[in-house]
Amino acid sequence: SNNGNPSESQSPAADPEDPQKCPPVVTDIGALNCSSLNVESFIEQSIAIIMEDVVKKATDVTEKVCEWRSPEQLKELLDLELTDGGESESKILQHCRDAIRYSIKTTHPRFFNQLYAGMEPYSMVASFITEALKPSLYTYEVAPVFTLIEDAVLRKMMEMIGWEEGGDGIFNAGGSMSNMYAVNLARYHHYPHIKELGLSAAPRLVIFTSRECHYSISKAAALLGVGTKNVYVVPSDNSTNSLYPVPFMVNATAGTTVLGAFDPIEEIADICEKYNLWLHVDACWGGAALMSQKHKHLLKGIHRANSVAWNPHKMLMACLQCSAFLVRDKTHLLQRCHSAQASYLFQQDKFYDVSYDTGDKSVQCSRKPDAFKFWLMWKALGTRELEQRVDRALAMARYLAQEVEKREGFRLLMDPEYANVCFWYIPPSLRNLSDGPEFWKKLHTVAPVIKERMMKKGSMMVGYQPHGDKANFFRMIIISPQVSKQDMDFVLDEIHNLGKDL
Ligand SMILES: *Cc1c(COP(=O)(O)O)cnc(C)c1O
Ligand SMILES: *[C@@H]1O[C@H](CO)[C@@H](O)[C@H](O)[C@H]1NC(C)=O
Ligand SMILES: *[C@@H]1O[C@H](CO)[C@@H](O)[C@H](O)[C@H]1NC(C)=O
Ligand SMILES: *[C@@H]1O[C@H](CO)[C@@H](O)[C@H](O)[C@H]1NC(C)=O
Repeated sequence: SNNGNPSESQSPAADPEDPQKCPPVVTDIGALNCSSLNVESFIEQSIAIIMEDVVKKATDVTEKVCEWRSPEQLKELLDLELTDGGESESKILQHCRDAIRYSIKTTHPRFFNQLYAGMEPYSMVASFITEALKPSLYTYEVAPVFTLIEDAVLRKMMEMIGWEEGGDGIFNAGGSMSNMYAVNLARYHHYPHIKELGLSAAPRLVIFTSRECHYSISKAAALLGVGTKNVYVVPSDNSTNSLYPVPFMVNATAGTTVLGAFDPIEEIADICEKYNLWLHVDACWGGAALMSQKHKHLLKGIHRANSVAWNPHKMLMACLQCSAFLVRDKTHLLQRCHSAQASYLFQQDKFYDVSYDTGDKSVQCSRKPDAFKFWLMWKALGTRELEQRVDRALAMARYLAQEVEKREGFRLLMDPEYANVCFWYIPPSLRNLSDGPEFWKKLHTVAPVIKERMMKKGSMMVGYQPHGDKANFFRMIIISPQVSKQDMDFVLDEIHNLGKDL
């Protein structure tokens, strides 16, 4: 203790085990600081590591996509244990380097494994800024700038969807969450008493969706008490009907996760209007096509949807997570459905217009200002460049599909509608087998081995999966403007090289 006078504090004794490390200096009412930590220099050094080990290596095609280690090996390599005493700056910086080193470089030009990819510098800087500022979007009071930015981005997205009258919306923690919002909102729209009375205020409800739909629909049904057996895949069957279930929403998909297929929204909207069903369009992946004059026909009719889920962190390359849920309604449904009117946050007698306190629309309390990551890049690139990126990615997907068709030993699953190119690689040893069960059973085992080999080599990452009754196939996802035709050719050559002996 130094009797409250910081200038009298003695310089702390060095830790013999770790000379750089100092014990905390206790200033009067328990403020702690470590005299050896210079905050600015620490942050500068970490930024230098990020520049060197992430930003530069990410775009360098000669670097590895991953340095694969098994969980056991990785536990050995990383010093994971949390201890009573803190560690020195140099050790902490080493932890940063190690964390980066053994992480997957999802921004590398040869990462095709997921529905996101590529380095987007504007969006990345925006995330740095929001992480550094640490705002939470519940009230205008603590997030004035980002509240207005979110509003501006949502409005622009609604314009792209074609909601001329506007609507409402919210950025949230992912497309799965957007889909849950949609289920909850659709149900509240039909049975508002559920909010207060619970499930007893409604009959048994069912949702229609396509067989190709994302698994988040089942999760939403489970979480919200609809029940996974009340999610009907179209074509539906009657086998489980006993208590006259009431349909309340239809879930259409614009860009399915595996195949990249688009439901015919216009036709589905006709049915929804006729039977008064809430139409939700899951455009998490395919929404980006709205940016393109050439490809937006894929989502024709989306302006008739009641709600839309759209993830700018996928095809549009905003940093994770950046995910919008949009609602056509203009009657504050989102607010009415989710509000709990916490009086410590949403005081109605504040000195500013409290309609800018958007937090009560959300099921979250704290919420990140994700819209900024999209806004800053949109500002920098303009709608036109976003459009060009989408067009380029889809052209590249078509190029890859053509190459797949040309090459011996490769077989396309279907013509790509979007940026998913799905295909099988057939090693020479299987090429003479006829198309029977024997052939498919053997082919099923090929992709997993090639995947293992590519990861252990670190040369690229491409996903594979079975689908319905289809044997394991590769799914290439093309997003980033940093990938070239040579990268496409490389992927096919590499798959052949890694799998030709199988
Ligand atoms: C990715 C995806 C989701 C889920 O989005 P997350 O942000 O990963 O939760 C939902 N629907 C579709 C069609 C998707 O492709
Ligand atoms: C709708 O279907 C999509 C994909 O088809 C799926 O991702 C989503 O979870 C479903 N959502 C809802 C709310 O039905
Ligand atoms: C579903 O039920 C309807 C009416 O009860 C019946 O007409 C129809 O044939 C049934 N469909 C199937 C697939 O069982
Ligand atoms: C496939 O069949 C052809 C002709 O029938 C034969 O020449 C070739 O060696 C066979 N290849 C393999 C890998 O069995």
